[in-house]
Amino acid sequence: MVMLDQNGTFPPLKISTRGGHLYLFIWMRLSGGSTAGVSLGAVFGVLFFAICIYFVVYQRKRVAEGSLLLENGSKHVHDVNIGGTTNSDPLSGGAPPGATGITVDKSAEFTYEELATATNDFSLANKIGQGGFGVVYYGELRGEKTAIKKMDMQASKEFLAELKVLTHVHHLNLVRLIGYCVEDSLFLVYEFIGNGNLSQHLRGSSGREPIPWATRVQIALDSARGLEYIHEHTVPVYIHRDIKSPNILIDESFRAKVADFGLTKLIEVGSGSLQTRLVGTFGYMPPEYAQYGEVSPKIDVYAFGVVLFELISAKEAIVKTNEFGNESKGLVGLFEEVLILSDPSEGLRKLVDPRLGVDYPPDSVHKVSLLARACTHENPQLRPSMRSIVVALMTLSSSTEDWDVGSFYENQDLVQLMSGR
Ligand SMILES: Nc1ncnc2c1ncn2[C@@H]1O[C@H](COP(=O)(O)OP(=O)(O)O)[C@@H](O)[C@H]1O
Ligand SMILES: *[C@@H]1O[C@H](CO)[C@@H](O)[C@H](O)[C@H]1NC(C)=O
Ligand SMILES: *[C@@H]1O[C@H](CO)[C@@H](O)[C@H](O)[C@H]1NC(C)=O
Ligand SMILES: *[C@@H]1O[C@H](CO)[C@@H](O)[C@H](O)[C@H]1NC(C)=O
Ligand SMILES: [Mg+2]
Repeated sequence: MVMLDQNGTFPPLKISTRGGHLYLFIWMRLSGGSTAGVSLGAVFGVLFFAICIYFVVYQRKRVAEGSLLLENGSKHVHDVNIGGTTNSDPLSGGAPPGATGITVDKSAEFTYEELATATNDFSLANKIGQGGFGVVYYGELRGEKTAIKKMDMQASKEFLAELKVLTHVHHLNLVRLIGYCVEDSLFLVYEFIGNGNLSQHLRGSSGREPIPWATRVQIALDSARGLEYIHEHTVPVYIHRDIKSPNILIDESFRAKVADFGLTKLIEVGSGSLQTRLVGTFGYMPPEYAQYGEVSPKIDVYAFGVVLFELISAKEAIVKTNEFGNESKGLVGLFEEVLILSDPSEGLRKLVDPRLGVDYPPDSVHKVSLLARACTHENPQLRPSMRSIVVALMTLSSSTEDWDVGSFYENQDLVQLMSGR
């Protein structure tokens, strides 16, 4: 039998996984008044053992008995505190148990059967997306439209990162997590966002109407608000690390939500940059990160700038520049060539998404391109904060008046840049 300590906490257990060692802490909190008896200890023991099995063996059959026992106890909150592989990983680091625990309501747990039934046994017809870490299926669960991401057991780090962020952080412009499942594979269940990803709107099959310019500005503002929230208003603060158009979802009314928190890192407040394993997507990574692995919220700002360039041009972050397709250029460089000209208007006109036709205000496009250029500044310190970006985009979307950028920026170089010197 597993012994509980004073706080009803299990000692951490070190588990070896293919990716290295995973420290798994699991403890239960009893709702007020309950008394923990010997039988309860047994229940915990079984549950603890069952969950360990999940992360040790990539087993095929369900090991749900432990969880089912817990359900009977009900009203329990289920905390999973995850430790990581290396001490350079602040997601796990040496944080004390409890400080970074994931608190997931038992009602958020789904069974494999439920998910399989909802998705027609994960049929191809239900598939709505595929990114770096999983395949996403549509399914109706307990009366709600959901998107279900199925990930390999090997992606446990990404699974846990996402579970952790999305159970802590709630915002209109961040995708909402409904639940999870750890049978057979790792599953995350989200609210279904009806209009797909931004990448598909900009470059998908031509069946869709092009997004009007005003809507693009709104999408930029929504995504900026989601990012501002995780950068500035949560404790701890998070860095998304994989901002790109496929990770921005569009709902029925063309409002945007940031998704895919699998690579998200938390940073301690006040700490500078951190060295880490390089993850992310080429074309969206700033030089200081790609070259020196320096991580700060400014890496999201850079990637967001690339998304702004995508919204203007509908081009990919990396563009093929010759007919053989063996030469390519970053979208950032492509815009830079135009924006350094004393009169960029002609060059910009050529870069604007051809599907917009002449249906856009050149002045507004110019301003967004200047904002994107500031976001993708080589020097991270000279990039604006997400808060400044939100303010700038709010002003742009709410007024046709002169864009008085000067008053919004804390940063003098940027003020000069945005106001045209
Ligand atoms: N909640 C959702 N609603 C609708 N579609 C979604 C949802 N989540 C993901 N998708 C689709 O699945 C794709 C991949 O999802 P994502 O979370 O980025 O997975 P990955 O970690 O594999 O990159 C998205 O680009 C989008 O098309
Ligand atoms: C839990 O199990 C006990 C018997 O072991 C049973 O009487 C009780 O109804 C169960 N509670 C729930 C919520 O299923
Ligand atoms: C974006 O959406 C399209 C259409 O649903 C899908 O085919 C594509 O896989 C999605 N992109 C990613 C990265 O999942
Ligand atoms: C690209 O391919 C063409 C034809 O295959 C070749 O002539 C050219 O040198 C290549 N360019 C580069 C940069 O590899
Ligand atoms: Mg993705």
